[in-house]
Amino acid sequence: MFSIEAIKNLRNSGSVVPSSRFLVNKMTRSINGEDHVIVEFGTGNGKITKNILQKKSLRSRLISFELNPTMYEKAQSKLPVDGRFWLVNGSAFSFDQYLEQRQIQKVDQFISSLPLSLLNENDIDNLLAKVKAHLHPQGVFIQYQYSLDKYELLKSHFKEVKLSFTPLNFPPAFVYRCSI
Ligand SMILES: C[S@@+](CC[C@H](N)C(=O)[O-])C[C@H]1O[C@@H](n2cnc3c(N)ncnc32)[C@H](O)[C@@H]1O
Repeated sequence: MFSIEAIKNLRNSGSVVPSSRFLVNKMTRSINGEDHVIVEFGTGNGKITKNILQKKSLRSRLISFELNPTMYEKAQSKLPVDGRFWLVNGSAFSFDQYLEQRQIQKVDQFISSLPLSLLNENDIDNLLAKVKAHLHPQGVFIQYQYSLDKYELLKSHFKEVKLSFTPLNFPPAFVYRCSI
């Protein structure tokens, strides 16, 4: 299902295969027992989302954004949406409006699968400016990419960008851990 929908919408999905468990684990590595606000961009088939839900504390809140209505419906049918997990059929670019409506000021972790290579740099700049404005001072923005083409852009936005590589994924992926 993910692959069919991903192929139909390759411009937005950026991949035809869901993330491997190795990549999923790397993306969620910093989720511990603390009560956090976690925002995910690009739910897709919900593989990362499910892992976040398994690792997060009961009182942590997760808000996950998926643009594609078919992917959203599929994810909604298999993920346990409740008072502390909200799945939003909408663009990650509007995450700030959603947080404002719920009076959430700061986010501890952003976990993003957005296909950065397919987005234009002005849009990424705008999104990252909003991410920084909402990121807790000790928080992290975590993003994966199949190339390094947005590494310099991320470094221009964040004080620190730690880079790691996950060969056991198709395609192999780079993970950025960014802090302010
Ligand atoms: C590479 S897939 C990742 C799916 C899943 N998180 C994973 O890692 O296996 C990227 C996902 O981001 C979604 N997406 C693309 N642009 C988006 C946007 N502006 N807001 C929210 N989701 C978006 C796509 O529809 C797709 O499901």
